[in-house]
Amino acid sequence: MRFSIVGGTRLSGTVKISGAKNSVLKLMAMSLMANDRCVIRNVPRILDVQTMKGVIEALGARVEWHDDVMEITPPEHLGTEAPEELVRGMRASIQIMGPLLAKVGEVHIAQPGGCSIGHRPVDFHLRGFRAMGAEVEERYGYMRARADKLKGATVFLDFPSVGATENLMAAAALAEGTTVICNAAREPEIVDQQNFLNLMGAKVRGAGTGQIVVEGVKELAGVDYTVIPDRIEAGTMMVAAAITGGHVTLQDVEPDHLGFLVAKLREMGVSVEISRNQIDCYADRPIRGATVRSMPYPGFATDLQPSIAALASVAEGCSVLIETIYSNRFHYLEEMRKMGAKVIIEHSTAVIRGVDRLTGTNVCAPDLRGGAALVLCALAADGHTVVDNIELIDRGYEQFEQKLSGLGARIIRTE
Ligand code: UD1
Repeated sequence: MRFSIVGGTRLSGTVKISGAKNSVLKLMAMSLMANDRCVIRNVPRILDVQTMKGVIEALGARVEWHDDVMEITPPEHLGTEAPEELVRGMRASIQIMGPLLAKVGEVHIAQPGGCSIGHRPVDFHLRGFRAMGAEVEERYGYMRARADKLKGATVFLDFPSVGATENLMAAAALAEGTTVICNAAREPEIVDQQNFLNLMGAKVRGAGTGQIVVEGVKELAGVDYTVIPDRIEAGTMMVAAAITGGHVTLQDVEPDHLGFLVAKLREMGVSVEISRNQIDCYADRPIRGATVRSMPYPGFATDLQPSIAALASVAEGCSVLIETIYSNRFHYLEEMRKMGAKVIIEHSTAVIRGVDRLTGTNVCAPDLRGGAALVLCALAADGHTVVDNIELIDRGYEQFEQKLSGLGARIIRTE
């Protein structure tokens, strides 16, 4: 499937931000640990959620999903083997490991598939499970972990990995004794996991700081929980406003999670006004280039690097993008070049010299966030752009083209 986009319209209007993909997937996995039904609200209709639904259903959970409300009822006896085709298609499936190990003492799962943005091993997750007493085997592309009863441990992460922090928090929630996760990730999604777990009866503290302490409890109850807003979708929409010289109001957003992006956009000359759950973003003067270094939270989010590159491609002067999280995130820049972007890539650094106008052509989404950034370029380009392979964008953006056309963009989906 592809998007067909005619550029040149200034976006204006109001857009509602959906629930956070990177939180809801983990909450779904953690629901498997509950003794009864969990209700999750503000669930976005995106492909990755559909995939995770398939994974937890295959483990025996009953899932009902109406509008943005998902009800998950774990079975009496959870399965221990995750379906390979779903796991290979979505790396976040790895997040069932901690919950299953803690709840049933066993999990069998394929190594998650390769990723176009770089090498993404799961060694921190496995090292943490081993420290908690699990036996972990890795053979023929599969991982099997077993533990009669996980034991609390102090775990040091070599890097503040989001997924490892969440997987270990989940495992620790039902382990015996106290677990300390040192050099933990500090993303808002981690705080969301802590709030969800604590509402289930877990004893987790420290999320949002570099050290998380989890005192294991014997069981976890069902919950009714609302997912935080998706800060990456919000950031993408803010750039959509800026790159088209438009004026967009984002609703149902959490401005506190977007501090770095807001500062960077202001530095680039974009106007951003913040009220409680709302952000007004507009471009009423020329956009300037900037230096942007992706970092773990609260640094600049790597997932927003492609969007900021789109803006840099039409900004005045040069921008420098330094990627510190992934080894190979710049594939989308090759596609932007086809639209006239002036880019030099050197290892993990890209230098972008802004041009007056990009021109529409045929491009292909190389990954989820890179694909969204190509759509942003197309909205600002002269003429007609076709963005192919948009299934990747559907993984993480709910009703992307409907939301953009609601703001005046000329975008349609075609087979
Ligand atoms: C999550 C997000 C992803 C985001 C990323 C960084 C989800 C579903 N995805 O991914 O959108 O880009 O955080 O903010 O939430 N690493 C290892 N060994 C490990 C684990 C990670 O070397 O065991 C490395 C990775 O290769 C990567 C870095 O650590 O270079 C960060 O990865 P991590 O924070 O774990 O990202 P994810 O949780 O996979």
